[in-house]
Amino acid sequence: MDADAAGDGERVSAAADAFAPLADGGQPGWYRDAVVYSLDVKTFQDSDGDGWGDFRGLIDRLDYLENLGVDCLWIRPFYPSPLRDNGYDVADYRDVDERLGSLNAFDDLVAELDARGMRLITDLVLNHTSTEHEWFQRAREDPDSKYHDYYLWTSHVDEAYHTENIFPEFEDGVWSYDEVAGKHYFHQFYGHQPDLNVANSDVQEELFSIAEFWLERGVDGFRIDAAHPMILPKGHNAHRLEDPQWLFRELKRRAREVNDEAVLLAEADDEPDRLDFYFGDGEGFDALFNFVGNSHVTYGVGVGDSWPLYRMFEQIPDAQPDGHVWWANFLRNHDEWNLLKLPHDALEHAREEFRKGGDGRDSWVFGRGHRLRLADLYDGDHDRIAMAHSLLLSLPGTPIVNSGDEIGMHADLDRPERQAVRTPMRWDGAEPNAGFSTADPEELVIPVDGTGWPGVFQADAASQRGDPGSLFERVASAIDARKRCPEIARGDCSIVHVDSGDMWAHRFDHDGRVLLAVHNLASGPREVVAGFDVDPADAERVLGDADYRVADGGVTVTLDGCAYLWLRGERRGDGGR
Ligand code: NOJ
Repeated sequence: MDADAAGDGERVSAAADAFAPLADGGQPGWYRDAVVYSLDVKTFQDSDGDGWGDFRGLIDRLDYLENLGVDCLWIRPFYPSPLRDNGYDVADYRDVDERLGSLNAFDDLVAELDARGMRLITDLVLNHTSTEHEWFQRAREDPDSKYHDYYLWTSHVDEAYHTENIFPEFEDGVWSYDEVAGKHYFHQFYGHQPDLNVANSDVQEELFSIAEFWLERGVDGFRIDAAHPMILPKGHNAHRLEDPQWLFRELKRRAREVNDEAVLLAEADDEPDRLDFYFGDGEGFDALFNFVGNSHVTYGVGVGDSWPLYRMFEQIPDAQPDGHVWWANFLRNHDEWNLLKLPHDALEHAREEFRKGGDGRDSWVFGRGHRLRLADLYDGDHDRIAMAHSLLLSLPGTPIVNSGDEIGMHADLDRPERQAVRTPMRWDGAEPNAGFSTADPEELVIPVDGTGWPGVFQADAASQRGDPGSLFERVASAIDARKRCPEIARGDCSIVHVDSGDMWAHRFDHDGRVLLAVHNLASGPREVVAGFDVDPADAERVLGDADYRVADGGVTVTLDGCAYLWLRGERRGDGGR
């Protein structure tokens, strides 16, 4: 049958359609059904005109987020910090940077989110502190203080363990000399971010109690920053934790004692064959950020080819609806688009293919990625960005939408380093500072990017909301579709082979039902036949307005360039797959 053109469907409220938590051996399941939105409080909305986004401003924008359909926020570090690494250089773990608000304002956010049935995940940076943290100040001043052993020192740097710094463009090693201590200290990131000695039991206790502090204030979980560097060899003797899994296991145990639904998501950009380790057979992380997926999916969509998607599925352990393996999927984040997980030829290709810049500006950074947003990678093509989001929302795992990508914001390569992808949210291009702040532009935490690329439209939210064909509304429809499809979090996912290298299809089987998602990665129209063992009369369009015809255990789909279609129905009793 030719389906009626149901468009992207009417959106239902996420909260009204919320699913009960999974009953998985007592493990919380809410995060598997969640759609996460990642944002930085200081660049989201300024409420008091001082040029800095703040918690009150974020509270004022919750209607926007609810309208988009997301139901969990991941907010990046908001702690007091000299901000030499965007807040990932924490100077005090138990407070809020006063430019962003106060603990009271934080509590108000938690209460507002609770009232809306939304969750909150915060960033915990446990691998390192800022040099301005009191622990480091006391450590450098007094070698006999217990804080000295919170960090890793050497008096013989030539004989010490050396490895490559994670920010090779800015640091030429992992040791820096401290004048006060008269010794070198170890840092895998910037020199102002000394690594913590996570093997020290006092440090471990500090880290656990920081997690407890925020859980008691009502957060639902944490993104554990730099989980991989945390367990790498450290210090003069390249010391390794005896049982690195214990650290994460214990962190989770302590967290669950405060909130039995608390979850830990790991930023662990480790090799694919080591990823299982972080799940710790169910006692470790609840989900891992899918870096393999990020490089492969974003690249595959960018070049209009499905092989990177096949490769992603080959490389990583399968998400387990009833087990402990689970992915936090994303298309872009607030860092560089890291391409190291691509095969060498593809990395080289991506390096040149997606490079932007000129006039001394270059998007390539750290020898591994582009400091570009999704809109730059896809040349401002909203159809391609919408399709990428449909794919993201249909993949097995929890989808994370990167703030600003839902309206197609561009990067600003005039900003240094990764700040290019962190400019303030553009609410309304007709307003001063695009509605982010009423402050003098000179006072802004990061300048609002008003120009976009030469000849390229710089997006805003106001011109898109309510317009059904806009990127914002298409992303919102895809989020809504995800909310109506419990199959994605609970079903068995499999790839559906189609006879075309620029099309991608996959399906979920759950409870006798099938959900099929077909994506056209090409710019031109395509027709494709995919296995779909559902009775024609029973096939239901979930998302997308492509024509389709179900017959003989298959579906013929006709898709415009960058179009997508999600279909579902009861699996036919008589047909195999
Ligand atoms: C990962 C964060 O995403 C990045 O922004 C930061 O620079 C490093 N961890 C160090 O904390």
